[in-house]
Amino acid sequence: MINPLRGMKDLTFEDSKRFVRIINTATNVAKKYGYEYIETPILEETALFKRSVGESSDIVGKEMYQFEDKGGNDVCLRPEGTAGVVRAFVHAKLDRQPVKQKFYYYGPMFRYERPQKGRLREFHQFGCESFGEGSVYEDFTIITMISQIFSELGIGFDLQINSLGCVECMPPYKQNLVGFLRETQEELCEDCNRRIDTNPIRVLDCKNTTCQTLLVNSPKLINNLCVVCDSDFIKLTALLDKAYIAYKVDTNLVRGLDYYNKTAFEFVSNDIGSQSAIAGGGRYDKLVEFLDGKPTPAVGFAIGIERIMELVQMPEVQKEGIYLGAMKEEAIEALFPLATAKRKEQKVTLEYNSKGFKSHMKGADKVNARYCVLIGEDELKNETVWVKDLESKEEKTVSVEAF
Ligand code: HAM
Repeated sequence: MINPLRGMKDLTFEDSKRFVRIINTATNVAKKYGYEYIETPILEETALFKRSVGESSDIVGKEMYQFEDKGGNDVCLRPEGTAGVVRAFVHAKLDRQPVKQKFYYYGPMFRYERPQKGRLREFHQFGCESFGEGSVYEDFTIITMISQIFSELGIGFDLQINSLGCVECMPPYKQNLVGFLRETQEELCEDCNRRIDTNPIRVLDCKNTTCQTLLVNSPKLINNLCVVCDSDFIKLTALLDKAYIAYKVDTNLVRGLDYYNKTAFEFVSNDIGSQSAIAGGGRYDKLVEFLDGKPTPAVGFAIGIERIMELVQMPEVQKEGIYLGAMKEEAIEALFPLATAKRKEQKVTLEYNSKGFKSHMKGADKVNARYCVLIGEDELKNETVWVKDLESKEEKTVSVEAF
């Protein structure tokens, strides 16, 4: 028997139903907010992620499924969706159109991480990317949209937000932070020491407890924002307050991808163990430019589907559709035109073997059909069908035409 690869999973039975419910719910909400579907390739040039997610990030530096294809190209399986959508946006010259563009997508992402509960090597995201709107109102709208998706799925969450500033306020803050880190360098972990030079901001979300304790006294960007970023962040929190969306400002929330500026957020759940982030996102106003497009502000998010699968409340299973069966060999083919007609409106399970009454009733029960419809000798002769409503238990014989 060949097993799936480590950290990869088949989606079957109950899981696949949950998966479909999440995608359908999120899709319906995204459409209501004006998002259109976009599909981008799973395989991309490695350079795309190096330039966007960042070479010093763990995702690119340690976790990519990267290889040379038969043509000698350096390619990789996408570790996330945003970079591909931005590449597609620039490739289709949508950055040169005056209208705002909003896209939603879902599909597999690949990160070569150490698998554990809630952390897979192949996982699925549902994501949205909004291009052309620089107003903080859009950040608020996106957070509202995610809240609506989780609320429709019956999922509770904690929201953490932060501002990562902009080209004005981030560089002086970074210098300030590096100064602080150099003073505490000897006590910081190995990873943080490396990050002082490569990506000092990432030191802030190190999970090492010694580092965390040292960082309590680190300078905070939230206290050093420029006037515009500061007023936008205040506006965002005021809007969330007004909408009764609870949040916590987490000054150490920096996200694991380098393209963010200004608003950054994560939705977390306390009910799924240590891998508690169920969605993440934020603003990335420089990425389109960075990938050779015209300067275009943008903001987006992605939900981790597997992480919320066990949290989703599933509606009670209702009896549904029709079970069609024959009690005589000669009646089987008479079922086909009925099945074809009824399948235009509802689910039909067609049993290909002629069987006795009891056996058919069991079959209808197994597929949870609402109606059991049978044709025996009499029905075949009289061009009728026998119908039982398995909910009300009502039975009747009707003409094939009237059925
Ligand atoms: P991210 O925070 O890296 O953001 O991933 C989003 C979500 O994907 C996480 O919150 C988590 O639920 C899920 N996830 C990440 N890694 C794994 C894993 N190894 N196993 C299972 N689930 C996982 C992004 O990917 C950004 N592209 C989001 C974004 C869109 N920002 C702006 N637009």
